[in-house]
Amino acid sequence: MGWKTLDDMDLAGKRVLTRVDINVPVKDGKVTDATRIERIVPTIRDILGRGGKPILIAHFGRPKGKVVLEMSLRVTLPALEKALGASVAFIETLEAAEAMTDEQAGADVLLLENIRFHPGEEANDPAFAARLAKLGDVYCNDAFSAAHRAHASTEGLAHLLPACAGRLMQAELEALEAALGNPARPVMAVVGGAKVSTKLDLLGNLVGKVDMLVIGGGMANTFLAAQGIDVGKSLCEHDMAGTAREIMAKATTAGCEIILPEDVVVAREFAAGAPSETVPATECPVDAMILDAGPLSVARIATALEAAKTLIWNGPLGAFEIAPFDAATNAAAQKAAALTRAGSLVSVAGGGDTVAALNQAGAAEDFTYISTAGGAFLEWMEGKTLPGVAALES
Ligand code: 3PG
Repeated sequence: MGWKTLDDMDLAGKRVLTRVDINVPVKDGKVTDATRIERIVPTIRDILGRGGKPILIAHFGRPKGKVVLEMSLRVTLPALEKALGASVAFIETLEAAEAMTDEQAGADVLLLENIRFHPGEEANDPAFAARLAKLGDVYCNDAFSAAHRAHASTEGLAHLLPACAGRLMQAELEALEAALGNPARPVMAVVGGAKVSTKLDLLGNLVGKVDMLVIGGGMANTFLAAQGIDVGKSLCEHDMAGTAREIMAKATTAGCEIILPEDVVVAREFAAGAPSETVPATECPVDAMILDAGPLSVARIATALEAAKTLIWNGPLGAFEIAPFDAATNAAAQKAAALTRAGSLVSVAGGGDTVAALNQAGAAEDFTYISTAGGAFLEWMEGKTLPGVAALES
């Protein structure tokens, strides 16, 4: 690996500026899903165990360089203290961080207020980064999910202090390397979601890297339509037909098999429990919409999964939020989980709705790795260099 980890650093008595991503969902003043907070615990405990003082830097929402009270990170404090089992002092301003009080100095961990309250953060302003750097002796980046942003706390700081990856960053990078960098073959990708237009770069990159590509969700309709199939009232980007054909041609050249639904579940309305029927993908009624892949398609995906050694998954196969249109996503996820449990598949998933879909299928626990990242995971799947990762490379 081209970057240092906590094992390479001398942290005794050092202030460790630790970039974390605790951009968690909050409702009525409470954190509703603490996964991202729980995932940073090993890094913080490790720093404490090595005699360092973690000073957490994080963002929350997109306040665009202004103080927005509803976007204060204070709301994360109880969940953070609970997960860490340590005291956390909240520091509201940089001035307060620069003139540390005894109370702050006595706490195990410090948490700075939302770093995006400062315009210098997103601008990656060198003067702002230099001001942050003075608060620490070492920089540790544990925010893979924010590594696609070239901001002062994700990129700039890495050039100003001895820098290393935290345990979560390390785990993410190792899992992603196993999935696309140097994977066991055949490699299969499952890409779902509503629109081709949001995942163009991703599909274009994947067809050159994987052996089998399952396309599901609304974007499969665009691929079906591009082959001249009438998809009725289904969600479909007809203006992307040419692009879909280009992706299919690129796949053929690269030897990547594209797997589209053979049969589909259709309904006349988009509602839970709406009457539905299963028809061949070529026979969607003109007044109906495709909301899920059918059982033949699921069986085809299961066969492909059995042949695969590595799976990378982003996006649901159907309208998984509403039953019964979650059936294909659930069945394929459960199959991947079972193969992973049996030791025949390395499975990595991430991005947006994916984690929710796999949780709903009861499959997430068995996946080899579930990334906490949304946009960063997608950009990595697109083959892009993530500035926060590149800056750590020594
Ligand atoms: C995320 O939630 O995906 C990360 O925290 C990045 O947030 P951003 O898209 O606002 O940069």
